[in-house]
Amino acid sequence: MTQPITPPPATRKILVTSALPYANGQIHLGHLLEYIQTDIWARFQRLRGHECYLVCADDAHGTPIMLKAEQEGITPQQLIDRVGIEHKRDFDKFLVSFDNYYSTHSAENKYFSELFYQRLNDKGHITRRTIKQLFDPEKQMFLPDRFVIGACPKCNSADQYGDNCEVCGSTYAPTDLIDPKSVVSGATPVQRESEQLFFKLGDFKDFILNWLNGHTQKEIANKQKELFDEEMFEWDISRNAPYWGFEIPGEKGKYFYVWMDAPIGYLASFKNLCDRKNLDFDEYFQVGSDCELYHFIGKDIARFHTLFWPAQMYGADFRTPDGVWAHGFLTVNGQKMSKSRGTFIMASTYLHHLNPEYLRYYFAGKLDNSIDDLDLNLDDFQTRVNSDLVGKLVNIASRCAGFISKNFDGKLSDSLPDQKMFDQFVAAGNSIAESFEARRYGKAVREIMALADKANQYIDRQKPWVLVREDETRAQVQPVCTQGLNLFRLLIIYLKPVLPRTAENVERFLKVSPLAWGDSLTPLLDHEINRFKPLLTRIENKAIQKMVDETKTEQGKDQNAEKVSDKVKLPLSDQPIASQINIDDFSKLDLRIAKILKAQKVDGADKLLQLTLDLGGETRNVFAGIKSAYRPEELDGRLTVMVANLAPRKMKFGVSEGMVLCAGPGGEDLYLLNPDEGAVPGMRVT
Ligand code: 2FM
Ligand code: ZN
Repeated sequence: MTQPITPPPATRKILVTSALPYANGQIHLGHLLEYIQTDIWARFQRLRGHECYLVCADDAHGTPIMLKAEQEGITPQQLIDRVGIEHKRDFDKFLVSFDNYYSTHSAENKYFSELFYQRLNDKGHITRRTIKQLFDPEKQMFLPDRFVIGACPKCNSADQYGDNCEVCGSTYAPTDLIDPKSVVSGATPVQRESEQLFFKLGDFKDFILNWLNGHTQKEIANKQKELFDEEMFEWDISRNAPYWGFEIPGEKGKYFYVWMDAPIGYLASFKNLCDRKNLDFDEYFQVGSDCELYHFIGKDIARFHTLFWPAQMYGADFRTPDGVWAHGFLTVNGQKMSKSRGTFIMASTYLHHLNPEYLRYYFAGKLDNSIDDLDLNLDDFQTRVNSDLVGKLVNIASRCAGFISKNFDGKLSDSLPDQKMFDQFVAAGNSIAESFEARRYGKAVREIMALADKANQYIDRQKPWVLVREDETRAQVQPVCTQGLNLFRLLIIYLKPVLPRTAENVERFLKVSPLAWGDSLTPLLDHEINRFKPLLTRIENKAIQKMVDETKTEQGKDQNAEKVSDKVKLPLSDQPIASQINIDDFSKLDLRIAKILKAQKVDGADKLLQLTLDLGGETRNVFAGIKSAYRPEELDGRLTVMVANLAPRKMKFGVSEGMVLCAGPGGEDLYLLNPDEGAVPGMRVT
């Protein structure tokens, strides 16, 4: 008896966030663990038919960003503009489906930060008092804890930061350090008094202790409860000038501490999305909202998200989060990521050598809902991807598809020979969905791979390659392979949150519109499919080795760099605008939506990719200088914009019949224009 299939629950409205990365460094694999974890969950919800938005932003304020910009000889604005572009590019390439990626240095965030502050202040939750802080007399600035080093007051170990000792683990105030020095100038800091503003977290003790039950993991909740037992918090939310951030209304020369406005950036990013897409912001953020709100974070920033943030929201009359879900840290080969071992791997370095879906799959296979650290073992990574994705999953399709194309004109049979088996695969979707919902992706992946084994065993038993040899058994090949491909289709639906690009390629192969979870209920029968093209290839040893080597080389370059400012590129807004044209000049351009049917490398050309473009019936051949920014397989099926009336140009490799449009200065920094949903090939761009 097959299990009953649980219908998907009614449509939910969900807003999901990942922590906002600081706008002063590159995205690395440690960051990606979180963005991939969040993205899988958001994609899963959308696949189930729910309305789910995923927003994020760069965390653009604070002393480290101000000092980094100064070091590079640029303004903080220039730094955050540049880093913002780099972050977006990395997230896009790892298929993180943000509905909005914004910045905390935005008008919306200024508005909400002031609103939070005003409401909290009006209700008496802000207090002020004079405190002593370390001040750099040379640089004329107050120093954040991490910008003071000295000997630990407990164990005397040298070169410890101003907040805690990495040797004995004790925590203290920077003023307790023995022989403190400013990291910024090397000067000996002096103590200076100044008045600061504090958020009275203690006012929210009852609310927080109650909220902690069930809204975050137990370990995190217990830790925060302990903190509340140890002290009655007042949280210092102001910083003195010079500081890069928002000035506090009515407080000359005082700025919101970066951690005050950072989580408010979640609202600001969503507000920006709402304004662009005509969504109802208040529906999501008003007290008593029916919409769900979840924050995915690393366990190191739990205090900000499970004590201060819910209290800030509650105190300022906004709804509070339904869940703050923390994950552990990433280790590589069992150890902390290390530059010298070549395991502090940047997202962009990874992408030079490996397909992003491999990492998505590997992380998914190991992620659960706990705060345990997760290890990326590079040998295991290669084995898992090769054996699961290539050896098991893709193998199902490649064993069946050729017979259908060659012997049955690409047509699937009109019934399944083993409906019961299909139903079992469908029924397994219930528990797979439960696992995804509960963030137990590892469990979901194990269940899916167990089904992949079953599908392969089915093909082993049926032996279509034997059936096809004899006239009297040849007809059975079609239903057998139809069965195999239908099982494969179900596995792809289940894996779509993890492997969205492969799923898209499979949709193209099966000639079906984008698959949703509910499509698993009905098999694909009496339907013509395309020829099978390899979907994923094995990871070769040398790819991983090259990635590690490149990481080591990058690290060496960093150390040898004479001046960081040499690497600074002009932000795009600083590129001069070309001389004016009139509307007649502009209307000479015939810009059209084009679909990239095929993208391929060009033998002997370093920069070019050859694109076959569909202009809505007409096919064009275009050579585009985008090889350093895109791998051909990333482009298949994408819509973009082309100049359709550009005179054909004879090039060394053939005739180019038009031009595709990209933004960016060149090299890796190139971004193909993408129309919004609804545009179709051939449509005129005006
Ligand atoms: O720890 C960090 O990297 C912070 N930039 C995270 C901020 S998350 C949110 F609060 F904005
Ligand atoms: Zn110590």
